[in-house]
Amino acid sequence: MRTQIIAGNWKMNLTLSQAIELVDGIRYGLIFPGEVDVLVAPPFLCLHRVAEHLQESYIGVAAQNLFYEDQGAFTGECSGKQIRDAGADYVIIGHSERRQYFGETNEIVNKKIKAAFRNELTPIVCIGETLAQRERNEVAAVIERQLGMGLVDLTAGEVSRLIIAYEPVWAIGTGKTASPDQVEEVHRLIRFSLSMKFGGQTGEAVRILYGGSVNPANSKELLALPNVDGALVGGASLKAPDFIEIIKNIKS
Ligand code: PGA
Repeated sequence: MRTQIIAGNWKMNLTLSQAIELVDGIRYGLIFPGEVDVLVAPPFLCLHRVAEHLQESYIGVAAQNLFYEDQGAFTGECSGKQIRDAGADYVIIGHSERRQYFGETNEIVNKKIKAAFRNELTPIVCIGETLAQRERNEVAAVIERQLGMGLVDLTAGEVSRLIIAYEPVWAIGTGKTASPDQVEEVHRLIRFSLSMKFGGQTGEAVRILYGGSVNPANSKELLALPNVDGALVGGASLKAPDFIEIIKNIKS
């Protein structure tokens, strides 16, 4: 069975002291999380400190982004090599906010995934359609394109180790959650598409998270869906009690 993941994407929130307070709130508020990988993704400036602070805990650390070169004259960027050195094990790639505000394309996402693997970071690759694309019935085509171009030249072994986060853009930070039927349908499609491209074993191994306005109230139903292997949580991951409630709602 695939180990479920609850990941908190803090985005550009929290100071260092607030970050430490939040992770302590999580680990001391929930001593035994059960069979689940719990991750937090702090902003770059907090990453090293948070990772060091969490060394002996069950909480893993992810970066929210990386640049695809390992070093050099790229002012303002952070490389996979540096992120690994700072103590992270995972990195979020291609979040819709990166695609929307920072011009990240599927080609860039592909280079970033390769950089993550090169530096022993597990990529959490975000995909999902906009509202306009859903209304035009383009969900399957968008997902196919994002997976097709985003995962080009990767081996089946690499793909089975990465994590996909399906995040419909219209559900992020809006309070609008996709319905369980909508979520299961797209997750099934993602798994099918990965099986066709990389083999059935890979399709079965890949963990697919749902993201978009996940909260304590809606998480139980979403996490219970057969093809949902966890959640990527934004807003609700900034409050320890809410994040803990979501962790407790994983499938047993
Ligand atoms: P949200 O964000 O939970 O605040 O909608 C999710 C995400 O962007 O990963």
